[in-house]
Amino acid sequence: MPVDVLLGLQWGDEGKGKIVDYLAKDYDIIARFQGGPNAGHTIVIGDHKHVLHTIPSGVFRKDVINVIGNGVVIDPIVLARELNSLVEIDVDTSNIYIAKKAHLILPTHRYLDAASEASKGKSKIGSTLRGIGPTYMDKTGRNGLRVGDILRDDFKERYNNLKQKHIELGKIYPALDFDIETEEQKWFESIESIKRLHHIDCSYYINQAIKDGKSILAEGAQGSMLDVDYGTYPYVTSSNTLTSGVCVGLGVAPQHIKDVYGITKSYCTRVGGGPFPTELDNEIGEELRKIGAEFGATTGRPRRTGWIDLPQLKYTIMLNGVNKLCITKLDCLNTFANIKVATHYKVSDGESQNLPYDLTDSNLTPIYKSIEGWESDTDQIRDYQSLPPKAKEYIEFLESYLEVEVKIISTGPERDSLIIR
Ligand code: GDP
Ligand code: IMO
Ligand code: MG
Repeated sequence: MPVDVLLGLQWGDEGKGKIVDYLAKDYDIIARFQGGPNAGHTIVIGDHKHVLHTIPSGVFRKDVINVIGNGVVIDPIVLARELNSLVEIDVDTSNIYIAKKAHLILPTHRYLDAASEASKGKSKIGSTLRGIGPTYMDKTGRNGLRVGDILRDDFKERYNNLKQKHIELGKIYPALDFDIETEEQKWFESIESIKRLHHIDCSYYINQAIKDGKSILAEGAQGSMLDVDYGTYPYVTSSNTLTSGVCVGLGVAPQHIKDVYGITKSYCTRVGGGPFPTELDNEIGEELRKIGAEFGATTGRPRRTGWIDLPQLKYTIMLNGVNKLCITKLDCLNTFANIKVATHYKVSDGESQNLPYDLTDSNLTPIYKSIEGWESDTDQIRDYQSLPPKAKEYIEFLESYLEVEVKIISTGPERDSLIIR
């Protein structure tokens, strides 16, 4: 069986968690391949809303194995808290497997993240302060601690060596208030919960599962525009969020990858700093934020909002090889008489459909097409034909521009608010 992929095509928070939870009923294994607790994937089942940060979104489906792959960075404190909150609501956590090669986020990684951000002033990235950047830096700098190290006799010594390095490094920044002892105590307590999970050699595990005919869905975190290589650098996260990240993040060869689900909102959001060409810094943007409840699932920060940006989506569809498009939050446009869609950019020497080298220093203005809104409810609709004709026109316009079929449309946060085509 091949590996399918699901990932965000914008700047994150596209509704990946909800769609993975739905699709998970048809997969044997759901596997996170990158990112860490900077992610917040929301799943709404009945009256219950759950936000997952490290654990894959297949955990609410019985008998699905949830793999935290080696490309993920793990904060034991966050993971232990997540495990506890699942146990409290009687969710089975015995199907959560963790890669031995996944790197650990130390309390001092969080300190360095915060200190580095504070020192940047206005040009700060707006990181989630979860220690993501410093942990990936230690990974590529070959200093990191991994899940498999937890069982080594000299784990504490290795921890102390790395912590000491961080303390020295931290001296280049103005000091911040941070209670290392308390955080460290929580961290070591949480390590005990991590010890109780199934520890796997992720690449052998996944490749054996492929051989055994198991179906696997790789769940992306963040969004393609936050990819460290292809996103709006330096306003990005520190991992490869694209389909290509699945190969290194799980240890699978490219020929095993088949379908790629790309998720986009019916509009666009971004949280944190960095360029956002179609941003609406006005009442319309405020209305979108209100209707879409656009506040970060991890940090609670208000998300920046704007119209959908088709050149941007075309770029990330190309990067990921998306063959199945999912549009979420269609219901959030229900009340708009006019909806705008960016189709081109006006640049210094004419018009372009391509993203420039650096969005941060380019003089680029989006060119919009205006589309009449449908101005009626879509929340209860479960089949495509019953959508208002103008809503179908909107979807079909996106489809023809982006040259990918829209397979899933989401019309509300709840698990079953979906139209499958
Ligand atoms: P993720 O990080 O991609 O999993 O997305 P988040 O969970 O951070 O943010 C998506 C938010 O939109 C969550 O609050 C979801 O409950 C909500 N959501 C998902 N799909 C829909 C939808 O179709 N309509 C509405 N109104 N909300 C949705
Ligand atoms: P999910 O998986 C939205 C953003 C941060 C910041 C930048 C770098 O829920 O879609 P980091 O903490 O990674 O160093 O922050 O990336 N960011 C996200 N934005 N959704 C996410 O995850 C994000 N994870 C990181 O706001 O701008
Ligand atoms: Mg999120």
